[in-house]
Amino acid sequence: MRAWLLASLLLSLAGCWRDGLDAEAMRDPAACASCHPDHYREWSGSVHAYASDDPVFLALNRVGQRATNGGLGSLCVGCHAPTALALGLTTDGTNLDAVPRAARGVGCWACHAIDGVTAVHNGALTRSDDGVVRGGIADPVDTPAHASERSPLLDGGSLASSDACGACHDVLVGAVAVESTYREWAGSVVGPTGRAPLSCATCHMIGKDGPAAALPGMPTRRVHDHQFPGIDQPLIPWPETARLAAGIERDLQAALSARLCVTAAGGGVAAEVTLENVQAGHAFPSGVTHSRRVWVELVASAGDQVLFASGRFAPGEVVSAARDPSLWLLSSRFIGADGGTVEVPWEVAAIDSELLPPAVTVDPLDPRYYHAKARTYEVLGAPDRVELAVHVEPIGLDQLDALIAAGELDPAVRAAMPRLTLPTLTRRWDRAQGYGCVR
Ligand code: HEC
Ligand code: HEC
Ligand code: HEC
Ligand code: HEC
Ligand code: HEC
Repeated sequence: MRAWLLASLLLSLAGCWRDGLDAEAMRDPAACASCHPDHYREWSGSVHAYASDDPVFLALNRVGQRATNGGLGSLCVGCHAPTALALGLTTDGTNLDAVPRAARGVGCWACHAIDGVTAVHNGALTRSDDGVVRGGIADPVDTPAHASERSPLLDGGSLASSDACGACHDVLVGAVAVESTYREWAGSVVGPTGRAPLSCATCHMIGKDGPAAALPGMPTRRVHDHQFPGIDQPLIPWPETARLAAGIERDLQAALSARLCVTAAGGGVAAEVTLENVQAGHAFPSGVTHSRRVWVELVASAGDQVLFASGRFAPGEVVSAARDPSLWLLSSRFIGADGGTVEVPWEVAAIDSELLPPAVTVDPLDPRYYHAKARTYEVLGAPDRVELAVHVEPIGLDQLDALIAAGELDPAVRAAMPRLTLPTLTRRWDRAQGYGCVR
C-alpha cells in the first residue's frame, strides 16, 4: 500500500488536491458505485473488469514470461492491468492474484484519467493525477467527489475517442500487428477519413436517456452502456453474465449477412456460401483473431444420408483445418522466423489472416465496394437439401490445451468455453425450390 500513500502525498504537496475522492479512491471502481451505480454494475460485468482475472490471459502471460526470461516485461499488463502497473503493484503480471481488487483489470480510472495518446497501439496512453474525471458531458454538475471535464478522448461523439480505445485495441509485436482493430477501423468507411465516420463508442456504448449520477435533481443526459459486449464471456464465476451474453447476441445478429446459392455442377451440385461484414466497423472477427475460431458448417443431405459435410465438430472437439480439409475458417495464423506456424505472439514474425474485411468505400463503382467473401463446396450426388450455419468459438480449444499441458490453466476453463451459432446466418436450400439462392 506504500504506493497509494506516496501518490496521495505527492498530490497534496502539488496543491492540486480537492475535497472528495483521494488518489486511492479515484482508482477504485467501488468508490464510484454510490453515485454511478448503473455504470459500476455494467462495468463489473464487462471483460474490461475481467481483463486481469481472465485465466487464459494469466496463463499465457506466465508461459510467455517464462519462455522469454521475463522479456515480455510489462507489455501485457500495460493493457490488461494498467492501474496495477501504474501503482507499481505489478511489473510483469505474474503476481496479479495478489493485487487488490480495486486495482485489477481496466477500471474506471484507466479510461477516465486518460489525458493523452502517445501512439495508437500497445497501450501508449498517458493518465493524469489531477483529480479530474474526463468524460463526454460538456456542462457537468459540480460534485464534491471529483472535478469533471469534457475531453474529446472520452466523448463518444468525437472521433478522437477511438484513439483512446485504439491504443489498447491494437497490438504490435515488433513490426507485426497481432491485433489490429484500430487500424482496420481507421481504414474503413466508418474511420476518420471514411464517408460515414463513427467512433468505437458509438457502436459499442449504446446510449439511453437518464441521469449520469444517481443523485436528486440531476439533469437528463445521454448515458452510455459500460458492459462492452464483444465475443468473449468470462470463463470463471463473474457478475452480470446473462446481460453480457444478451448484448453479445444482440450485436452479433446484425454483424454479418449470408447467402447460400446452389447450382447444378458435374455429377452433383455446387454450393456457394457468401459472407459479408455489414456492421462491424473493422474486420470480423477482429482483435485476437489468432485465437478466434469463426467457421462455416455446410451439410448436404439426401433423406437421412449425409452426402457432404464440412465444419461439423462435436462439442469439445478442436476446430482445425487439419481435421477437415474443406473447412472455411476465419482466423489468423502466426508465422515464425523460419516460415513455419507458431502459436504464441512472442515468436511471431508475420501474420496470415483470413477475415471478413469491413466496407472501405460507399462508391459502387469502386472495385473495392464488393467486400464479401465466398467459398464454393462441390457436392457429389443429388442432395435434397443443403444447410448452412456459422459458428464462433472465442478461443480455440487447441490453445487452451497447450496452456493446460503447460500446467498453467485449469481444465475447467476449457469446459466453460462457449460455442455460439450466429443466429441470423442459418440458411437452408431445398431441392423443391429449384436451383438458386437463399438469403
Ligand atoms: C458523490 C457522488 C459521486 C461520486 C462518488 C463519483 N461521482 Fe462522478 N459524477 C458525479 C456527478 C454529480 C457528476 C455530474 C453529472 C451530470 O452533470 O449529469 C459526475 C460526473 C462524472 C463523469 C462525467 C464527467 C464529464 O464531464 O463528462 C464521469 C466520467 C464520472 N463522474 C466518473 C466517476 C468516477 C470514475 C468515479 C469514481 C472514481 C466517480 N465519478 C465518483 C458524482 C459522483
Ligand atoms: C473502456 C473505457 C471506460 C471504462 C473502463 C469506463 N468508462 Fe465511463 N465512459 C467511457 C467513455 C468513452 C464515455 C463517454 C461515452 C460517450 O460519450 O459516448 C464514458 C462515460 C461515462 C460517464 C458519463 C455518462 C455517460 O454514460 O456517458 C460516467 C458517469 C462514467 N463513464 C462512469 C464510469 C465509471 C463509474 C466507470 C467504472 C465503474 C467507468 N465509467 C468505466 C469509457 C470508459
Ligand atoms: C459501425 C459499428 C462499429 C464500430 C465503429 C466499431 N465496432 Fe467493434 N464491433 C462491431 C460489431 C457489429 C462487432 C461484432 C459483434 C460483436 O462482437 O459483438 C464488433 C466487434 C468488436 C470486438 C470483438 C472482437 C471480434 O472478434 O469481433 C472488439 C474488441 C471491437 N469490436 C472493438 C472495437 C474498437 C476498438 C473500435 C474502434 C477502433 C470498434 N470496435 C469500432 C461494430 C463496430
Ligand atoms: C487500457 C486498455 C483498454 C482501453 C483504453 C480500452 N480497452 Fe477494450 N479491452 C481491453 C482489454 C485488455 C480487453 C480484453 C480483456 C480480456 O478479455 O482479457 C478489452 C475488451 C473489449 C471488448 C470486448 C472484446 C470481446 O472480444 O469480447 C470491447 C467491445 C472493447 N474492449 C471495446 C473498447 C472500447 C469501445 C474502448 C474505448 C471506449 C475500449 N475498449 C478501451 C483493453 C482496453
Ligand atoms: C495494446 C494492448 C494489449 C497488449 C499489449 C496485450 N493485450 Fe491481450 N488483449 C487486448 C485486447 C484489447 C483484447 C481483446 C481483443 C478482442 O477481444 O478481440 C485482448 C485479449 C487477450 C486475450 C483473449 C482474452 C479472452 O478471454 O478471450 C488473451 C489471452 C490475451 N489478450 C493475452 C495477452 C498476453 C499474454 C499479452 C502479452 C504478450 C497481451 N495480451 C498483450 C489488449 C492487449
